[in-house]
Amino acid sequence: MQNFSYYNPTRILFGKGQIAAIAGLIPAGAKVLVTYGGGSIKKNGVYDQVKAALKAHAWLEFGGIEANPRYETLMKAVALVKSEGADFILAVGGGSVADGSKFIAAAARFDGAEPWEILAKRAPVSAAVPLGVVLTLPATGSESNTFAVISRESSGDKLGFGSEHCYPQFAVLDPETTYSLPPRQVANGIVDAFVHTMEQYMTYPAEAPLQDRFAEGILHTLIEVGPQTLAHPQEYAARASQVWSATLALNGLIGCGVPQDWATHMIGHELTAEYGLDHAQTLAVVLPGVLRHQKEAKRAKLLQYAERIWGIREGSEDERIERAIAATEAFFGSLGVHTHLGLYGVAGTNEAPSRIPARLERHGFLKLGEHGAITPAAVTEILAARL
Ligand code: NZQ
Ligand code: ZN
Repeated sequence: MQNFSYYNPTRILFGKGQIAAIAGLIPAGAKVLVTYGGGSIKKNGVYDQVKAALKAHAWLEFGGIEANPRYETLMKAVALVKSEGADFILAVGGGSVADGSKFIAAAARFDGAEPWEILAKRAPVSAAVPLGVVLTLPATGSESNTFAVISRESSGDKLGFGSEHCYPQFAVLDPETTYSLPPRQVANGIVDAFVHTMEQYMTYPAEAPLQDRFAEGILHTLIEVGPQTLAHPQEYAARASQVWSATLALNGLIGCGVPQDWATHMIGHELTAEYGLDHAQTLAVVLPGVLRHQKEAKRAKLLQYAERIWGIREGSEDERIERAIAATEAFFGSLGVHTHLGLYGVAGTNEAPSRIPARLERHGFLKLGEHGAITPAAVTEILAARL
């Protein structure tokens, strides 16, 4: 096992009716900026619950944060934080609202030339406005991690950053707030959480059997409850397990002391920036390609995955590995998330094998994966097999 330092200060409030409890977690004298997306929270009752919970607080709101949140929009909220003197941000929505709010929190306290430097130049974040999250879409883990991924319309970039100052102080996970999600977003959430787990598990053995079994537990749970919660969106038990799986997949725990990959995500972010595909759609396309391309480097873990996740014990090593990757593709497909670019019907994706490596090069991502072996040339090969 590798050395690690694990710190996760986010208080999780899990279950029905927990939004009401936020009142006691936000300082009484705070001026709260409530941030949200395109309006789903006004249709499903979440906005009203937040309003009721904040009745003793001074608060104002900023709506309109897009899926794949945009720098241009977020900078308007930064101006609002400054002009109104808001000193607590409450993000209400999915990963995009949580991510966007983390960036608002950091940018409002940034003393460099332009907050975009936090993303483009990895400028250090030395402070952030305190933040809480009411999560309405189980997928990203953003509600209890340090990361955020932000897009810039003017340049077409989609870049990430992470800072401990951006850990939410609390996250409300009420599965009932997710009942209104369209099937596409439920499926996206299952795929995203699955791939987060794979990015931290599917590398090489690191004498970390507990982390392996944490990861395998999450994968098994998603395979079990994913189809159930898609078929019966208002059944509490299955949705609750999806929600908790998604949080645990990317709150840092399963990645302690193990090598990590993240190539699928880095390639996926460029695909979203170039073609507008949903985050999880890009992952469903790329992950199987990375696994096949990196078969030798990942051989031992692929065999473990085949046996422990899919029960594949018969056949040669190569046959077992191929069946496990095919089972992964079939699982994503069964949720309605396509695993080949052409099936999304977006013009120009046949050029992805040349365009995406060029984007990665422009951003300086020249050696992806746990061995740094996924070069732009390798990305061309990976994507050529995913058209
Ligand atoms: O904007 P509204 O109207 O709220 O609608 C949203 C949005 O259209 C809707 N939605 C959310 N909750 C709903 C709902 N609709 C009905 N009922 C509800 N309860 O769902 C749509 C998608 O929302 P979004 O927040 O974009 O989805 P997700 O949570 O999948 O977040 C994706 C973003 O997170 C980033 C992705 O790159 C992408 O930008 N990621 C963040 C990570 C992190 N911070 O650790 C890691 C991930 O790998 C990922 O990169
Ligand atoms: Zn993801």
